[in-house]
Amino acid sequence: MARPFAKMDFMNTQTLPYNVQAVRADFPILGQEHHPGVPLVYLDNAASSQKPLKVINALDDYYRRYNANVHRGIHKLSEQATAAYEEARIKIKRFINAASKREIIFTRGTTESINLVAQTWGRANLKVGDVVVSTVMEHHSNIVPWQIRAAEKGFTIRYIPVLPDGTLDLNAYAALLRDENVKLVTVMHVSNMLGTVNPVVEMAQQAHAAGALILVDGAQSTPHMSVDVQALDVDFFAFSGHKMCGPTGIGILYGKRDLLEAMPPWMGGGDMISRVTLDGSTWNDLPYKFEAGTPIIAGAIGLGYAVDYLSELGMDKIHAYEQAIAAYALERLAEVPGITVYGPDADKKGAVAAFTLDSVHAHDVAQILDAEGVAVRAGHHCAMPLHEHFGVPATARASFYLYNTFAEVDALIEGLYKAKKAFA
Ligand code: ALA
Repeated sequence: MARPFAKMDFMNTQTLPYNVQAVRADFPILGQEHHPGVPLVYLDNAASSQKPLKVINALDDYYRRYNANVHRGIHKLSEQATAAYEEARIKIKRFINAASKREIIFTRGTTESINLVAQTWGRANLKVGDVVVSTVMEHHSNIVPWQIRAAEKGFTIRYIPVLPDGTLDLNAYAALLRDENVKLVTVMHVSNMLGTVNPVVEMAQQAHAAGALILVDGAQSTPHMSVDVQALDVDFFAFSGHKMCGPTGIGILYGKRDLLEAMPPWMGGGDMISRVTLDGSTWNDLPYKFEAGTPIIAGAIGLGYAVDYLSELGMDKIHAYEQAIAAYALERLAEVPGITVYGPDADKKGAVAAFTLDSVHAHDVAQILDAEGVAVRAGHHCAMPLHEHFGVPATARASFYLYNTFAEVDALIEGLYKAKKAFA
């Protein structure tokens, strides 16, 4: 049976890095009932996070007070919108410690950022005989763009295998890098299914020593831990706003300036040009070369405020808090008879737990949890090759964020006992 959580909660509030109830008060959605009389327990943060008032108000303020296009008008509203949009870029530059704001490109999200690199850098630099190294644990967004480009350009994709404990086989990685045709390594920082934190610093060093570039998918790391792209020494780094308290439809591609300068543009249109004639065009400076058309102005401003929110709370504190929640969740999940939790131990993973429960289908688990107010994701989590590797078509996944509580972990566990009972 599930343990009472009051004691655990009490013990942990003594040592936790911040007062989670004060944090929760910043997120209006968390106070609502999921069903009449049933509070919302939101554990689907790897899919998308909730938004604090700071971000909601920033979006409202933009649309109410200074909505206008950027870089175009000489009227006051356009100047205000442009200043806020560019201020957001500077906030994000600081947040990931990029060397220049020119290295920060606004995209629609991680998927678009990776596609941008595959379509511009990939088209210009990859050819028959070349090799791109990826991993079996990647999200589809870091597999499919390379497959599409490989079909056109004729290069080969090789995948680093995953070991039974859910970590990458780094010996196999070293062996793959012995092939001098490797031009790019493209790897996720944190797995959205296993939670595995990949050693990207070492992987970047090895890639560079082998003469290859490295792209890191930071969609599941940037919201949860301090990221310093210069310390990581990665060539490209992609992440999404909506998983880190920001709006949907906004994301970032970071790239080292010399690489971005050398890359051809992707989409053509307004703002990305320097001069257009009927015979041809020249390109704007970075980052605008990659931001064709009216950009995602409100989204960028909202993401800037999300970064403010996270920075004020402190990324190291957020990480420490989530590690405590994740350790507790893994301990409690392990008590449930018939459960299999995928991925490494708590100290090697982020705050995410994908699991199967006896023969109960993951969708049924999620449905019963939903009736209990607990929102989790079920399915292949856009990682079909990884699920195939573990021999399961689907898993249920609980993923935590800075506002989740120990009591919510207990609600998850109680829901799982109900699911077991319903399908016994
Ligand atoms: N990539 C997101 C997830 O893992 C959508 O749920």
